[in-house]
Amino acid sequence: MMDGLPRSGPGAALRHDSALKHTTGEARFADDLAEAAGTLHAALALSAIPHGTLRALDLTAARAMPGVVAVLGPADIPGANDVGPAGEVEPLFADGLVQFAGQPLALVVAATRDQAIRAAAAITAEIAPLEPVLSIERALELGQHVVAPQTLARGDAEAAIAAAPHRMEAEFRAGGQEHFYLEGQVALATPGEDGEMTIICSTQHPSEAQHVVARVLGHACHRVTVTCRRMGGGFGGKESNASWVAAAAALAAQATGRPVKLRLSRRADMIATGKRHPFLYRWTAGFDDQGRVLGLRALLAADGGWSLDMSGGVVFRSITHALNCCDVADVAITGCAVRTNTVSHTAFRGFGGPQGALLMEDVVHRIAAACGLPPEEVRARNFLGAPGKGDETPYGQKVEGDLIARVWAEARRDSDWDRRRGEIAAFNASHPTLRRGLGSMVLAFGISFGVMHLNQAGALVHVYADGSIRLNHGGTEMGQGLFVKVAQLVSAVFGVALGRVAITATSTAEVPNTAPTAASTGSDLNGWAAHNAATTIRDRMAAVAARRFGIAPEQVVFAEDRAWAGAVGGNLFLDFGELAKLCFLERVSLSATGFYRTPDIHWDRATMRGNPFFYFSYGAAVSEVIVDTLTGEHRCLATDIVQDCGNSLNPAVDRGQIEGAFVQGLGWLTCEELWWDAQGRLRTVGPSTYKIPGSRDVPPHFKVRLLEGAPARSETIFRSKAVGEPPLLLAISVANALKDAIGVPALDLPATPERVLMALRGDGGKIAQD
Ligand code: MTE
Ligand code: HPA
Ligand code: MOS
Repeated sequence: MMDGLPRSGPGAALRHDSALKHTTGEARFADDLAEAAGTLHAALALSAIPHGTLRALDLTAARAMPGVVAVLGPADIPGANDVGPAGEVEPLFADGLVQFAGQPLALVVAATRDQAIRAAAAITAEIAPLEPVLSIERALELGQHVVAPQTLARGDAEAAIAAAPHRMEAEFRAGGQEHFYLEGQVALATPGEDGEMTIICSTQHPSEAQHVVARVLGHACHRVTVTCRRMGGGFGGKESNASWVAAAAALAAQATGRPVKLRLSRRADMIATGKRHPFLYRWTAGFDDQGRVLGLRALLAADGGWSLDMSGGVVFRSITHALNCCDVADVAITGCAVRTNTVSHTAFRGFGGPQGALLMEDVVHRIAAACGLPPEEVRARNFLGAPGKGDETPYGQKVEGDLIARVWAEARRDSDWDRRRGEIAAFNASHPTLRRGLGSMVLAFGISFGVMHLNQAGALVHVYADGSIRLNHGGTEMGQGLFVKVAQLVSAVFGVALGRVAITATSTAEVPNTAPTAASTGSDLNGWAAHNAATTIRDRMAAVAARRFGIAPEQVVFAEDRAWAGAVGGNLFLDFGELAKLCFLERVSLSATGFYRTPDIHWDRATMRGNPFFYFSYGAAVSEVIVDTLTGEHRCLATDIVQDCGNSLNPAVDRGQIEGAFVQGLGWLTCEELWWDAQGRLRTVGPSTYKIPGSRDVPPHFKVRLLEGAPARSETIFRSKAVGEPPLLLAISVANALKDAIGVPALDLPATPERVLMALRGDGGKIAQD
């Protein structure tokens, strides 16, 4: 806690505002709200085949089923059959062409959810099959892209590779990831007068949901209100996908004139909504005997799925993070997203950043093996700011190399690296079948939306005449603790206890034209916007108090729930509530909007140069694993993390974010495996077939430390740093530890027991797809 700030202000380690309600079950999610009389329920009919021409849809059987009120297809859309978030037309219901197994074809509306689901299953589609494209390789051969190849280059990679003492080529891959938010996609749409539509849904992006609903209904945005009090997790999966769920519910509500709820089953959610992009990597590097990478050429090919969605931003982030914390003078990193007949892959915590960072880890680990050097040594020799290395990314942005070296030094020290290396070597020499391994990870993650115009936020603050405060802003709460952090900032501006600040649901009617809560920027952006709104009101209140006290407004101090004349603790003061009342009587407005746009960021698409990130977040981790060489099964035994949060807004929440991100990354890299069959159907459609980490997968020794004494640049709110996504990359330390344990430099990911076993048997961990 900072001196002079109230206990509830920024820097206080407060629990999540809903922590108790989450625990007791009192927190209300969209599906918990009381349903108005006459509420109908909707269910989607999904395509069973991945690609084909849609000849006919037979809805007659479904229409005759019990409880069915309406069956809606593309012809029933009054506006546009387009829910695309990024400019490309992406149909809500397949129209003419089926593009993936799981694509929505029609929507059934019935009296109960069960009736809707049963009727949806009775819809039959006549589809003339077309050859599906189901792999990144095949799409690359065909030159089929949703995001065309773009190259981030500096210097002359070819010449540097050719001139280097050694040269290496490699290929590897990383799988996608299902978000597995506890609360699935859900929307409740209620029609009103004059074409009004109100949608309560679980969305990270209420403004986009509003736009997409308006587009589908053929209305203007002023008729459509989208609200969200909280999500039971989003993780990127509710950035764009929530919009089409909202649109489907709204379409049904408009068609029937009744409230309609659409809540996807876990199975439908897994089949029909996008996931983390799987990646294929091919690279060639030139390096010296010390493991310094002198030249690097790489291709990062993401599987975009059937449509564009946000793949442009994911490709951008993957290529700008491909060198991660390292520097290579001469580079050419090409990124693209191929078009395949799979679900359209979308935002997922890290947004291409984790996939990008895997490239340099693969390069470092294979080169280290070739040089006979420890990989962490090779990585450190290639750090931005290391001797002989630069401190600028290939796109020309300066990075604080000293913080990279520092987080790594601290993680190495915290984990007692050198001693444990010896211990592990002794264990491995003595045990017949078990192998332990130690791995590390260091990260530099750029904070800001890659899409520049999204770096803005708005807020609306009211002070009521009784001195209570109502806070609203454009950010959404998905469990990450954004609402409490922003409330802490507002309470500090007014110098009042946190309890005075009411946290309220995000609504497009209160703060319009917002960015998604994503890219970890929620508190950076909305924190400033709310701070600005609160400051406007406080300045007006200070003027009123100053007149009363007979002093200058600058001399009024807000602290301890009072406005003080000069010093806190003197005998001239007004209680905050008294002052609010006084402002009302004097006809002074106690309501204000606040706005914020991130300064100093720019990106030139043509030259691929700029300062796209406001700052970087840094972190380092060391993990230890144990592997059963007979089965390939493994566990993470210990993890030590040092994560840079600047001046943390809330160390308790930030610690939770770091732990959660790490464990989610651990799932992506070690146990979560999406499996599509040869017909392009996703077969991992629930927790029985798709294994997310459980409580027992959390490392028994799990020590998270926030980097101390490293405030962010002065223009960030409270000199804090974003925390939501970066620590997910630290789980790469576990994949690196697995390589160490089994003595291979490379592993395809996720490193499931099967893949580890295959790698132990010497075939590089490649599993044939069925
Ligand atoms: N934490 C929880 N508990 N639930 C979530 O859905 N989403 C993550 C991260 N942490 C998420 C989470 C993702 S993908 C992002 S971008 C950030 O939170 C968004 O919130 P922030 O910008 O306020 O950090
Ligand atoms: N992260 C998450 N979502 C986004 C981004 C990003 O960088 N850019 C656009 N949408
Ligand atoms: Mo997070 S993937 O930016 O929603």
